[in-house]
Amino acid sequence: MSATELRTVSIIGTGSYIPEKVVTNADLAKIVDTTDEWIVSRTGMKERHMARPDEAASDMGAAAARKALEAAGVTADQVGMIVCASITPDMPFPSTACYVQRLIGAHNAFCLDITAACSGFIYSLELARNAIACGQVDTALIIGTEKLTGVIDWQDRQTCVLFGDAAGAAVLSARGAPHGIRATSLGSDGRLAELLMLPGGGSRHPTSAETIAQRLHYMKMSGREVFKHAVTRMVEACQKALAKAGAKVEDVDLVIPHQANLRIIEAIGHRLGVATDKYFINLEKYGNISAASIPVALDEAVRGGRVKKGDTIVLVAFGGGFTWGSAVLDWDKE
Ligand SMILES: CC(C)(COP(=O)(O)OP(=O)(O)OC[C@H]1O[C@@H](n2cnc3c(N)ncnc32)[C@H](O)[C@@H]1OP(=O)(O)O)[C@@H](O)C(=O)NCCC(=O)NCCS
Repeated sequence: MSATELRTVSIIGTGSYIPEKVVTNADLAKIVDTTDEWIVSRTGMKERHMARPDEAASDMGAAAARKALEAAGVTADQVGMIVCASITPDMPFPSTACYVQRLIGAHNAFCLDITAACSGFIYSLELARNAIACGQVDTALIIGTEKLTGVIDWQDRQTCVLFGDAAGAAVLSARGAPHGIRATSLGSDGRLAELLMLPGGGSRHPTSAETIAQRLHYMKMSGREVFKHAVTRMVEACQKALAKAGAKVEDVDLVIPHQANLRIIEAIGHRLGVATDKYFINLEKYGNISAASIPVALDEAVRGGRVKKGDTIVLVAFGGGFTWGSAVLDWDKE
């Protein structure tokens, strides 16, 4: 198929799932040496949600997926592809996407997981967009789902205050798409992998009594370094995606950034030149929910009336790997 025949792809429905249990900053101050004042002033976060012990990434992902399918008016058997982004999959294999498939009954789909940490949803968007654009499938379900409370070190105050659990999903289709996803820009830098990682449990450090004693099964992060790279890369990614889309900063109606830290979002806003009131922010309620961050925020923006037909939206994320990405889309739905 030649490039001229590629189909335009749109998001035609969104959904999200937030576990019930709330963990406040005051709750965390009972576990580690921290304060509400420190967490709010350094991150903007006030609370986060925690999944039940019996709830896995696929359970949350399936709940978000059902809502997205309903919003899109698509049945599970019409889904041709499921991409699930997560750094907290149910297990190393089978994929979380296969478990979601089973839970929602999307038996005509092929399913895969991707690991791109907090950038996972934008990476999934690009994979699914390409599959639809070239005619491989007509409808795709993309999901970001995380149970980060299971992989954070509750003795490490530098990380345990930052993360939460949730899932978000979107349905993509070529159906009725005059504009849709206009452009994306993705990037990675494996040279900086050690700055944000979960080292244990893989083939490098298989789980053993020793890796557990060394707490290698928990996330490790060099916060200050991550902060610096996150700002630079997210600004660059937005600029590249906007240039590819032929759009200007003034055309942007809403930016949905990865919700890792309010100060990161403010720094991006300052450098990118998009007014601060155009940034959608919900990190005070959920903390950093990694791959679920953007789809949950997008779903809240859509359902809360922040997104209107014809709006130009910029998604932007940064995460472990390092990975980063941005997407520029025109909202097609009423
Ligand atoms: C983690 C982060 C909030 C820390 O904020 P910061 O301003 O960089 O703070 P620092 O790490 O420099 O620490 C400052 C001080 O606060 C202390 N501190 C760290 N965590 C704390 C906590 N939860 N409560 C109280 N004090 C804390 C540190 O020990 C340090 O103390 P010191 O000055 O006596 O050494 C910030 O670096 C960040 O958000 N980084 C990016 C995280 C991220 O986005 N990760 C995911 C990427 S997708």
